[in-house]
Amino acid sequence: MAVMDWDTLTEQCKSCTACMLAETRTNVVVGVGVAESEVMFIGEGPGEQEDLKGEPFVGRGGQLLDKMLAAVGLSRHHNIYIANIVKCRPPGNRDPLPDEQEACIKWLRNQVAIIRPKIIVCLGRISACRLIDPNYKVTKQHGEFVSKGGILMMGTFHPAAILRNPNLKPAAFEDLIRLRDKITEICEHTKLVY
Ligand code: URA
Ligand code: SF4
Repeated sequence: MAVMDWDTLTEQCKSCTACMLAETRTNVVVGVGVAESEVMFIGEGPGEQEDLKGEPFVGRGGQLLDKMLAAVGLSRHHNIYIANIVKCRPPGNRDPLPDEQEACIKWLRNQVAIIRPKIIVCLGRISACRLIDPNYKVTKQHGEFVSKGGILMMGTFHPAAILRNPNLKPAAFEDLIRLRDKITEICEHTKLVY
């Protein structure tokens, strides 16, 4: 697919029926944030609250994510863009199936093609396995930057995993500090907000 403009992408994505998830969704969760961002965060797929509101990471995990991001000067309202691998909620919050990911990834590819981020942060295993390496191990590789197609990619813990296991918080914060250092180094247009 050729690169489309932002409004066309949003409009077409919102009416997508390319996989089974279309049948059970309330809203398509296209993404949220600043389209001119140099940094993107990619989660797995909408949960219940996200499906109801049409915005990524607005449940308990999302509140934790926003708090942790704020600590390093990042905010969906100012300097980042947040999206998911699949745009519609998998029923019961199951993992998105490979064919659902395959059907949906074109939207994310178009989002990346338009935004042209310098850094992509993958939140959790599903996202990191899809975007960095099929064998990605979050516990081993979190916080490492790898360059792929001219974009620096990093995986870190999914906020839901941190909620389940608060012992992960210090390591997750270390990843965010590394991210902030990298942003300061290479993202000349990103203004951190405190
Ligand atoms: N979990 C995700 O991976 N993405 C969301 O948008 C919400 C919860
Ligand atoms: Fe389309 Fe993605 Fe929703 Fe499936 S999950 S219907 S591919 S937008």
